[in-house]
Amino acid sequence: MFQTNLQYRYPALFLSLFIVLVISGCSKKDSPAAPDPCIGVSYDVQYFKTESIGTSNNGSITINYPVGDTITYKLNNGSYQAAPIFNNLAPGDYVVTVKNQKGCTDTAQISILNYGPKYALVKQIIVGYCGPCHRNGGNEGGKNFDTDASIVASWDRIKARAVDANPSQMPQAPNAPLTNPDKQKIVDWVNAGHRQSD
Ligand code: HEC
Repeated sequence: MFQTNLQYRYPALFLSLFIVLVISGCSKKDSPAAPDPCIGVSYDVQYFKTESIGTSNNGSITINYPVGDTITYKLNNGSYQAAPIFNNLAPGDYVVTVKNQKGCTDTAQISILNYGPKYALVKQIIVGYCGPCHRNGGNEGGKNFDTDASIVASWDRIKARAVDANPSQMPQAPNAPLTNPDKQKIVDWVNAGHRQSD
């Protein structure tokens, strides 16, 4: 037969190779590496973000946890900094890395959205005046405004209830109705096309 397996032709060679591997494996056990100081270190990174409005690239990320003298922060492939704040962010996906004094790291993936300027004002009103009844799980009248999509989809009912009081005013008593300037912000957004980008 033309082809012969090497281990049958050179048994001594393979036996000695086997022995060398076993010995080197054993010698590693004799001098264990120092324990990794990062084993078991993980951070449940907490943050607050603001979206980027219009074309101004003014999104921001503020890390709320972990914070402290020994923690540093970096955005994407930037360099580490002491301040837990990143400003002037364009819309997009970011990775924030937090590092402790031992060099252990953890990351968070954070998306900065793009809001049109009129929508940004309406979102502020919804957050400020329509919770807890319609935010953070609140679902009065079958309306929950936790997501941008749910606000955009309900544009007509938001205007009907918060501006036109049809069939009655939102927010309901005991909460005060919106001021006229706030009502105008909703009207302006609706007239502009009531999209997230308006
Ligand atoms: C204190 C609680 C409370 C607040 C604050 C509140 N709502 Fe409501 N909302 C309700 C209740 C209760 C209902 C169901 C009864 C009804 O429709 O009147 C409702 C129903 C709705 C509905 C669904 C019914 C429809 O007419 O389409 C919309 C839309 C709505 N609210 C919009 C808003 C907006 C916009 C705000 C903020 C500007 C707001 N609400 C603030 C309690 C609240």
